[in-house]
Amino acid sequence: MFKKRFVRNTFSVMAAATVALTAVAPSAAAVTQPEPDTELNKENIKQPLSVKSAKKLKDGVRFDLGTHTATISIFAGDLAKVSLLQKGEKERPSRALAKKDWGTPSFKAIDTPLKYIIKTDELIIEVKKDTFGVKFMDKAGNVINEDYMKYGSGYENDKPFVFKKTQKDEAFYGFGEQAGLNLNQRGHEIGMWNTDAYAYNKDTKYLYTSIPFFMGLKNDKAYGILFDNTNRSYFNMAQESDDYYYFYANDGSLTYYFMNGPEISDVLDRYTDLTGKAEKPAAWSLGFHQSKWGYTPEEIVNVAKTYKEKNIPLDTMHFDIDYMDGYRVFTWNKEQDYLGALKQVKDMGLNAIAINDPAVKVDENNITYKEGTEKDYWAKNPDGTNFVGEVWPGDSVFPDFSKPEVRDWWAKKHNTLFDAGIDGIWNDMNEPAVFDGPYHTMPLDVEFGEGANKMKHTEYHNLYGHDEAEATYNAFKLYKDNQRPFVLTRDMYAGTQRYAALWTGDNVSNWEHLQMSIPMNANVGLSGVAFVGNDIGGFAQRPTAELFARWIQVGALLPFARDHYDSDAKSEVKVGQEPWQYGQQVEDISRKYIELRYQLLPYLYNAFVKASENGAPVQQPLVYQFQDDENTYDISDQFMFGDNLMAAPVVEEGQTSRQVYLPKGENWVDYWTGKEYKGGQTITRQADLETMPLFVKKNTITPMREVQQQTDEKPLTNLVLDTYVDREATYTFTEDDGATYDYKDGEFNETIFTVKKKLGKIEFKQEKTVEGYEDSKLASYTLKLNGAAAPRSVKGGSMKYAAAKSLADMNEEAGTYFYDKNTKKLYVHIPVDEDQKVTIK
Ligand code: GLC
Repeated sequence: MFKKRFVRNTFSVMAAATVALTAVAPSAAAVTQPEPDTELNKENIKQPLSVKSAKKLKDGVRFDLGTHTATISIFAGDLAKVSLLQKGEKERPSRALAKKDWGTPSFKAIDTPLKYIIKTDELIIEVKKDTFGVKFMDKAGNVINEDYMKYGSGYENDKPFVFKKTQKDEAFYGFGEQAGLNLNQRGHEIGMWNTDAYAYNKDTKYLYTSIPFFMGLKNDKAYGILFDNTNRSYFNMAQESDDYYYFYANDGSLTYYFMNGPEISDVLDRYTDLTGKAEKPAAWSLGFHQSKWGYTPEEIVNVAKTYKEKNIPLDTMHFDIDYMDGYRVFTWNKEQDYLGALKQVKDMGLNAIAINDPAVKVDENNITYKEGTEKDYWAKNPDGTNFVGEVWPGDSVFPDFSKPEVRDWWAKKHNTLFDAGIDGIWNDMNEPAVFDGPYHTMPLDVEFGEGANKMKHTEYHNLYGHDEAEATYNAFKLYKDNQRPFVLTRDMYAGTQRYAALWTGDNVSNWEHLQMSIPMNANVGLSGVAFVGNDIGGFAQRPTAELFARWIQVGALLPFARDHYDSDAKSEVKVGQEPWQYGQQVEDISRKYIELRYQLLPYLYNAFVKASENGAPVQQPLVYQFQDDENTYDISDQFMFGDNLMAAPVVEEGQTSRQVYLPKGENWVDYWTGKEYKGGQTITRQADLETMPLFVKKNTITPMREVQQQTDEKPLTNLVLDTYVDREATYTFTEDDGATYDYKDGEFNETIFTVKKKLGKIEFKQEKTVEGYEDSKLASYTLKLNGAAAPRSVKGGSMKYAAAKSLADMNEEAGTYFYDKNTKKLYVHIPVDEDQKVTIK
C-alpha cells in the first residue's frame, strides 16, 4: 500500500537513535540541520528592472517593469506593501496576515521623469525609474530605508531578493527565534527553515520557528520589514558588507511590508495590527508549569503533591507523549493510568496540559488514521499516495493542515483530551519532524492542498506549525465555549501569536543556554510573540545546583514559565529537575522567586493585556523602552520584565557579582535594598546565589498581591500598589475574570492610579474609567510607598486615616496606615470605593 521513498541518511540515523531512547549522551548527538543553504548568485543579477510606465490605483501604484510588475499598496499612512511579480504571476493569499482589509488612506501620486513619488500623511515613498528602486522617507524627507542600487531587488533565477542600504551603526532586531548570544543581529547570517534542532547551541543557524520579520534601528529611529515568503529564506544582515544587507528566499514571490516607527513600539503595534495581536491569556497559564518527558502517572501525582507540601506555587502539570496509547494521537494509554493521574491533578485544583503531535500512526485500528484516510486528509507524495514517515509511533501519516476541512476535523478530534479534563494543548514536532526523512523532515516534493492551492513541502514547510496551531486553537472554540485557549507550540510563522504561545524547543542544561535565552526571548518578543519561554533548567542533560538556581531566577520572570526536562533514558544523570532536587538552599531560592512571580501576577497579567492591545513584549530588551540610549542597543544579558522592572540575572558559572547598566533618563531603585541610582551608568551589584539583581524604574506603580499556591486559589481582594515616586507615577490597571471572553462584552474594570509627589505632599488618586466587572472582589488597595518619610497625617478627602500599630493591624481595616521606619516604607490601606484624593503629608 505505502512504500518508503527514501533511505536513511546520517541525520536520520541520529534521530532514530533518539526514538529508540538509547542512552545517547546528548552532547554526542548532532544538531539536525536542513540541507545546505542555497546561495544567491550575484553574478546572475544582470538585467536590472526599470519602470516603463506607472498607474495610480485606488490603493496604491502599479509599475510596469516589462517582464515584471511592481505594486506598492498603501495600507496605512505608515504601512506599505511592496510586491514585485513576474507578469501574469499571482501571489498566494498570505497566511501571516490577520488584517487584510485596511481601507486605504488618501495619498498623493506624483509622476516625474526620473522618479515616481507617493506621499501619505506619514511617508514619502520614492520609486526610482531606471533602475527600479524604492526609498522610504519620513515626512521631512529623511531617508528611513532604501534599496541598495548596485543589486536592487528582483529575482535571481527563481529566488526573490532585496538589497537594502545600511550604515555602520544600524542595529537589527526581531527575526523570531534565533540562537547566539547577541541581541543585535547586525553581522549575522540568518536562516528561516523550521528545524527540530535537539540540543542546539549558540551557533545553530536553523531553529524551530521562522518569523521573517525584523526591525532596523538607526539614528534612534526604527522601521520594520516583514518578508512574507514561506519558503526557506535568508537574511544577510550586513555580515558581508557594512554598506548593505539583503534577504532572499529559495522560491516564491517578492512581497514585503514596510512599516515606519519611529519608535520600536510603533513598529510592533503596526506589525501586530498586520499579523494579529495575541489575545489576553488565561490567567492560570501565567502560573508555574512543571513537566518532564517520561513522568509515570505516579510521578505526575507525586510531583504535584510535593509542590503543595513544600508550598512552592504551581498551576499546571504537563502530560508528555507517554499518556497516549502507543503514541497514537487523541488516545489514552491503556496500560498506565495517566487518566487516573489526570483526575488526581485536577482534584488538587491544578490544570493539565497534554502534548499533541501531528504524526498519526499508520494502523488500521487507529481511529484517527482510519478517519483521515477515508477522508483523504494526509500530505501526499507526488504520485498521489500518502506520505509516510517515522515519528514516535513509528510509520505515520501527516495531516494536510493547509486544507480548512482538515483543520476543522483536527479541531474536532480534541474531545478525547478535553473530555478527560485537559485544559491546554502543547503542539510539538510540527516542523514537521520526520526521523527517517531527508534532513529530518519530509522530502521537499511532498504535496499539500489541491488545485490552485497546491503547494510543495518546500513552500509549505514553515507554515505547517502555524496551521496546526490554528486548528488546535479552534478546538477550544468548539469544545471550551467562551474559555480562553492555551496552545503551546514549538513552530511558528509570522502571525502564529494569534493562536499560540512559543517555547524554544530542546535547549540544554548549560550556561550558554541560560545566557542565550535572554536575547532569544527578547527578539521573539520584538517579532510579535509576547508569550514565550524556555525550558527552565534546560531540556537535554541536567543542570548543576548552581545552574538551576540561576535559571529559576530568570525562569520566574519568563512570560511562559515551565520547568521541563528530557527523558532519563537520554541523560547520564538520572536525578529529577524539580526545585527540591538540589538541596534546601536551591529549594528555598526556587520558592522565593516563584513566589515573587505569583506576587507579581496582577502586573504580569496586565503586561499581557498591554501586549493584546499594542503588541508590546512582556520580556523586553532594554532597547524597547530606551531606544534613545545607544548604550542599550547591544545589551543581551539584562531585560525589562514588563514596563517597570529590570532584571540583571547572573548567567555565568561561579559569578557572585555583576555589572549592571542602568538606562539613561530614569532613576533606578534596587528592588532588594531600596538603594537608588541615577540612570546612564554601569554599577557593580553583588549577587550571591540567593540574589538576582532586580531594579525598579523610578516613578512607577507595580500592582502586586499576596502569594498564592496557584493563580485562582483566592479571589483578589487587596491589590498592593508598589510605588516608587519622586514626581508622578501612573498605572492603568485592568481586572477581569482572567478566564473567559466576557471582557469583550465590557465585563472588565479599568482603573487609572496616579501618585503625585510635590512640596512634601503625596497625593493618590484613582479614576475608574471602566466599571463592567461585576464579579470583582477587590475591596481595597495597599498603597505601598517605598523610600517614604514618616507621615504627619494621611487623609482621604477630609477624613483622617488612623495610624495602625502594625502592618497586620493595618491590613485588618481600610482607612488606616502604617509606617515602617526601618525599611522606610509607608503602607496606606485605601478602600476601593475611596473616591476622594488620599493626601499624605
Ligand atoms: C520533543 C520536545 C520535548 C518533548 C519530547 C517528547 O523533543 O521538544 O519537549 O519532551 O519531544 O515528547
